[in-house]
Amino acid sequence: MNTAETKRPPLAVVILAAGLGTRMKSDVPKVLHEVCGRPMLSYVIDAALSVSPDRVVVVTGPDQEAIVEILPVGCERAVQQQRRGTGDAVRAGVEPLQGFEGDIMVLYGDVPLVDGDFVAALHQRHLDADAAATLTTIDLDDPEHYGRIVRDDDGRVARIVEYRDATPEEREIDEINVGLYVFRGDALRPALGRLESDNDQGELYLTDAVHLLIDAGHTVASFESVDEEMCMGVNSRVELAVVNAAMRWRLLERLMLAGVTVEDPETTYVDYGVEVGRDTLIRAGTHLLGRTTVGAASEVGPGSFLRDAFVGDRARVISSHLYECVISSGCNVGPFAYIRPNTVLAEGAKAGTFVEIKNSRIGERSKVPHLSYVGDAIVGVDSNIAAGNITANYDGYDKHATQIGDRVRTGSDTTIVAPVTIGDDAFTAAGSVITRDVPEGALGVAREQQKNIEGYAGRRASRRLREQQD
Ligand code: UD1
Ligand code: CA
Repeated sequence: MNTAETKRPPLAVVILAAGLGTRMKSDVPKVLHEVCGRPMLSYVIDAALSVSPDRVVVVTGPDQEAIVEILPVGCERAVQQQRRGTGDAVRAGVEPLQGFEGDIMVLYGDVPLVDGDFVAALHQRHLDADAAATLTTIDLDDPEHYGRIVRDDDGRVARIVEYRDATPEEREIDEINVGLYVFRGDALRPALGRLESDNDQGELYLTDAVHLLIDAGHTVASFESVDEEMCMGVNSRVELAVVNAAMRWRLLERLMLAGVTVEDPETTYVDYGVEVGRDTLIRAGTHLLGRTTVGAASEVGPGSFLRDAFVGDRARVISSHLYECVISSGCNVGPFAYIRPNTVLAEGAKAGTFVEIKNSRIGERSKVPHLSYVGDAIVGVDSNIAAGNITANYDGYDKHATQIGDRVRTGSDTTIVAPVTIGDDAFTAAGSVITRDVPEGALGVAREQQKNIEGYAGRRASRRLREQQD
C-alpha cells in the first residue's frame, strides 16, 4: 500500500440492485440480465472491488435470493423490504454500516460498463475535493430520461431533478446524473433521514440528498466524465443490447491486442472470461461462450458455436457446434460437426462432416470423418470410423457403452449395437450390424450375402414392352 492509500478514510461501497426493472418486462431481476454471458451486477461489483473497499454491501429485494447466489465472498447483502426508491435503498444499504466511519460510495447495479479505473477516478476526485458528496455527471447529446444536474449561477451543483419531475426548461439541460456517487458517511446519514417522497413517482430519491446536503451547508462536488459508454444505464432490453455491443467490442479488442485475428468483429460474439491464444484466427459468425478457451494458432469458424468448450493449439473448428467438450491440439472438427458434452478428442483426432459425438473419447489421430453418430464410446488410437457408422447406444431403456480398440478400421455403414467391444487391429465389413464382440485382428461381418440374379434386365425390358402392346 502506498501512503496516499493508507491515509484515505475507510471506504464502504453500497450497490443498489433491488429495483424491479419494470421496463425490462421480465421475471428475472434486472441486475441478473446478462452482458456478454455474465450478470450485469457482477461487473459493477468488480469495479467496486478494484478500489479495495473495506466493506461492500449489495442491496436486494426480500425475494431476490438469485442475486445472493452470485455475490462473491466478502460482499454483504442488505434487504430493502419495499421498493420505495433509490434513497430508501441506500437507507437499507447503510443499515449494516452502523458504526462505520468513512466514505460511502453508492453505485447503481444497472450501470455495468463502469470499470475499476473509472470508480478509482471518482473516488480520487472526492478525496481531492474534500466534499461531503461527489457525484458523477456527463453531458449527453440526447439525455433522454436521465436525471438532470441543475447548477447555480456560479456553476456549482445545486440539485438533481428527475426527468419526470423536471420543467421543460430543466429538460433542456444536457448534463445528467450518472448514478455513481461518493458521500461522507456522517453527512449522508442525516440527509437520508430527511428524504421525502413528494415527487411524480412517490418514491424516496437518493438524488434529493444532494440539495439537502447543500441546504445543510455542505459542499457537493462533481466528477465530470466524458466517457459516455461508461455511464450507460440499462433500463430496457434495447439498452441491454447497446451495452452488450459495447462490452463485446471491449472483449474483442482485448483479444485482438493480445494477438488474435478476428476476421469480422461485427459478427463475432465472445463472453466475458473467454480466452484465445495468439495467432488464432476467429472467422466470421462465431460465438465463443461460457468458459470457452481456444489455444494458439488455431482456426475457429466461419459459423462456429462453442459453449464451455476447450480447444487446444493448431486445431480447426469449421462451422460446428461444440458444448462442454475438449478438442485437443491438432484436431480437425467440421464442417458441420456437433460435439456434445463429455466428449474428448485426443491430439490430432478428427470429427468431420455431419458427425455427432456425445460422451465419448476419440483417441490420438483417430478419425470419424463423415456422417456418423458416436455416443458413449471409447475409441483407441489411429482408428478410422468409416462413413455412416452408428453406435446404437440406447435400447429404449438404458444407454450402453462401445469400446473400439487401436488401429481399427470399420466399414462404411456399420451399426455397432452396444454394449460391444471391437478389438485392436480389427475390421468390420461395410453394412454390418455388429451385435457381438469382434476379437483383436478379426473381421466382423454381419450382413446378408449378396446374390446376383442373372439376365434380370433383359426380362424386365421385354415384360414392359408386352405391357405397352396390350
Ligand atoms: C436513476 C437516477 C437518475 C439517474 C439514473 C442513471 C434516482 C432517483 N434517479 O434513475 O437521476 O440519471 O439513475 O442511470 O436515483 N433500486 C433499488 N431500489 C429501489 C429502486 C431502485 O435498489 O427501490 C436500484 C435499481 O436496482 C437500480 C438503481 O437503483 O440498480 C437505479 O434505479 P432505477 O429505477 O433504474 O433509476 P433510474 O430511473 O434509472
Ligand atoms: Ca436505471
